[in-house]
Order: sequence, then structure tokens, then C-alpha cells
Amino acid sequence: MFVLWHDQLVREEEVSISYKDRGYYFGDGVYEVFRFYAGRLYEQQSHLNRLVRSASQIRLQLPYSIQHIEHNIEKLLVQEEIIEGTLYLQITRGAASRSHTFPEQAEPVLMAYCSEVKRPLVMIREGISTITLPDIRWHRCDIKSLNLLPNIMAKQQAEEQSAGEVILHRDGIVTECSASNVMIVKEGALYTHPANHLILHGITRMVTLRLAAQLGLGCHEEAFSVDMLLLADEVFITGTTMEITPVIQVDQTVIGDGAPGPVTRSLQAAFEETIG
Ligand code: PDD
Repeated sequence: MFVLWHDQLVREEEVSISYKDRGYYFGDGVYEVFRFYAGRLYEQQSHLNRLVRSASQIRLQLPYSIQHIEHNIEKLLVQEEIIEGTLYLQITRGAASRSHTFPEQAEPVLMAYCSEVKRPLVMIREGISTITLPDIRWHRCDIKSLNLLPNIMAKQQAEEQSAGEVILHRDGIVTECSASNVMIVKEGALYTHPANHLILHGITRMVTLRLAAQLGLGCHEEAFSVDMLLLADEVFITGTTMEITPVIQVDQTVIGDGAPGPVTRSLQAAFEETIG
């Protein structure tokens, strides 16, 4: 397996990460998860734009131009010859003696690799059950930072309760999920939390809203409560790895008739067209 390490494609064994890396100490860095279908990166430009934004928000200077990074990840994809999977890319603020303030000398460290990952076809077809938990994250969830402890803790709890995802809420207002965005359907219209500092501005979320508008559905980027979630006609989550996955149960409440609903199905069909 090859890894994009700084500016070079190297074998996995050749990667050596400093114990002083600030990603390791502080989670001081940003990342992206891209998906590729048929060997081609999906919404590549949107992911790169978000990477640039996340880096600038934490005042991390990208070590290379975005065109250069783009060129290198394309080389990595060709080298790995994987047809369907994900590409993980992270940039940390680099290695320096441990001090909270930004180091003067450290060079940001870029690392990326590809994994073969199949589409979650069973979940997409059958839907998942979910749990709700308080959203205990910071107030800059729009930054795709390496700090994921609250997300990890939440997802682990879901797993231990045999649920596929966690729907998070702040004081009863639904924000998003541990690794995806959430939308509800009420009387044929979509509702999802506005893209502000409290959620990640998901790329699948954006694609789904675009498709919904094309299908003539009403789209409301408005916050909704957990009570509204439980009373929704349909619920689904969106994300690079989950695509558009129906939610058929939230805690003890069955959503609709307990099967993926017609609006979710039509959005899934439209999404399918975009990846073909
Ligand atoms: N997660 N919200 C959160 C908190 C996320 O971590 C993600 C993605 C999303 C969906 O965003 P997008 O549609 O751009 O993938 C929403 C990635 C896949 C991860 O951390 O593994």
C-alpha cells in the first residue's frame, strides 16, 4: 500500500510520524474523507474547498498549493488501482515541543491514503435505527478538525445499543449526527439544520438539497426539535460514507411505517444518477 506522505508517494512502511506531531498531542489539524466511485473522486472540488476553509479557520497554512495536493491525490488513486473506496487526507500543524501556542518552526504534515470500501448497500436499502444523544461538541463543528472525541464516544454508544448512527441535539434542537447530517421529511418538504457553526457543512447534504430542489421538493434549512424528528414522516442521514441512508427508528420510536419512505427513495435514486 502507498501513502501520500508530505509530497511523495511512499510505501506504508516508510511513513514515520514524529511523537511530537501536534496532531498526535492535540488533534491540531484538519482532514477530509473523499469517496471515489469507478476510480473517480466524487465532488472532489467541494472536498478540497472545504479542506482549504477548515485549514484557514484554524490558521493552518497549507504546505502545498491546492492544485499540487489535487495532482498528488490523483497520482495516489492511479497508483493504488482501487475502483471503489475512500481517500482519507489529513494535515496537522506539524512536529514541535509540546506547547499550546502555535510553534514557529513546525512544518505542516500531510498524509493521505486510499482504502477499498464497498457502498453500504444493505443500509441504503433497509435503513438503520438510531439513538439520540446531547451534542456536547464545541461551537465550531463547521471545521473538519481532527478532534473527534465527542463523535467517537457517541458512535460507540450507538454501536453498543445496536444502532447505526447517533442523532445529536443541543437542548432539544437537532443538529447533526456523529459522522453524517440528518434531514426529516414532513408533508413532502425537507428540513435540515442550517449550515452554521453547529454542524459540518456536509457535501452529501449539499448534493441532497440540490437534488431535492431539482425534484421540486420544498427545502427548509431550519432547525427542528427532537419532538419534530420523532413525528417526521421520513428521516434520513447523509454523508460521504453513508450516502443517503434511511432512518427507520429513533430511540424507541418507529418512523413512519418503519420502512424507507417515498421521498427518501426518490432522493436515493437521484443520488445514484450522480455517482454513475
Ligand atoms: N464524516 N457531519 C459530521 C460530523 C461528519 O463527520 C460528516 C462526515 C458529515 C457528512 O459530511 P460529508 O457529506 O461531507 O461526508 C456530517 C466523515 C465521512 C468522517 O469523519 O468519516
